[in-house]
Amino acid sequence: MLDFAISMAQEAGRLLRDRLGSQIDITHKGAINIVTDVDLASEQLIRDRIATHYPRHEVLAEEGGLAESASDYRWVIDPLDGTTNFAHGFPVFCVSIGLEYQGETILGVVYDPMREELFTAERGGGAALNNRPIRPSQTPDLVHSLLSTGFPYDIRTSTLTNLNHWANFAMNAQALRRVGSAALDLCYVACGRFDGFWELSLSPWDMAAGALIVTEAGGRVTDFQGNPFSNYKPEVIASNGLIHGRMVEILAGAKAE
Ligand code: IPD
Ligand code: CA
Ligand code: CA
Repeated sequence: MLDFAISMAQEAGRLLRDRLGSQIDITHKGAINIVTDVDLASEQLIRDRIATHYPRHEVLAEEGGLAESASDYRWVIDPLDGTTNFAHGFPVFCVSIGLEYQGETILGVVYDPMREELFTAERGGGAALNNRPIRPSQTPDLVHSLLSTGFPYDIRTSTLTNLNHWANFAMNAQALRRVGSAALDLCYVACGRFDGFWELSLSPWDMAAGALIVTEAGGRVTDFQGNPFSNYKPEVIASNGLIHGRMVEILAGAKAE
């Protein structure tokens, strides 16, 4: 099934790359939350492949939602993670495909078609970037850490803006980034480019594949309190493990030392 997931991610990724910079149709799901015809085409491609090869499997994908079935298998898919980047021609986005068996993620594939980077993991089998094993960084403290985060689409109407945490981490870390693709953020923690990542309002399709890739690479993934991660809880901290406790403290409101 990993090979199947890889071929789907690469096929969908090529579709995204071929459409970058072309005429795209944009529909607004909210004031700043958009969907394009390319998101929909990528999702359709993936749904069609699963329907052909595993017709009984359940599918949860961002644009079409959940297609329920009695199967123990559930594919959790973001057909285009980084839609805002994509719509602006900013070449940072990916396809994210996770597979759950009885509620536990057993494989994850994230494909970045612009850099031709393929991140993969199988439960218990480690994580890889283009078939080479990956590990998180060894950065021991926050002051030397490069961190990443994202902001929710309802930032204008919600009290959960993430701006307080952004300010607090900016005063504690070496530097912060806002990539625009949560799945890539997670993969970059897994391979040591980022030391940590946090976000407070994510969906299962943003995280399913990437969270397994971090865990299998040897990193740590939890909620904001340091409790076990779930694809179905909206908040996540992913780190190299060494700075995790400090990230929990900062998210709880600790100030700079
Ligand atoms: C978004 C991206 C972004 C994150 C948002 C997500 P989308 O996904 O992952 O980095 O900050 O919370 O919704 O809409 O591009 O698939
Ligand atoms: Ca997403
Ligand atoms: Ca998406």
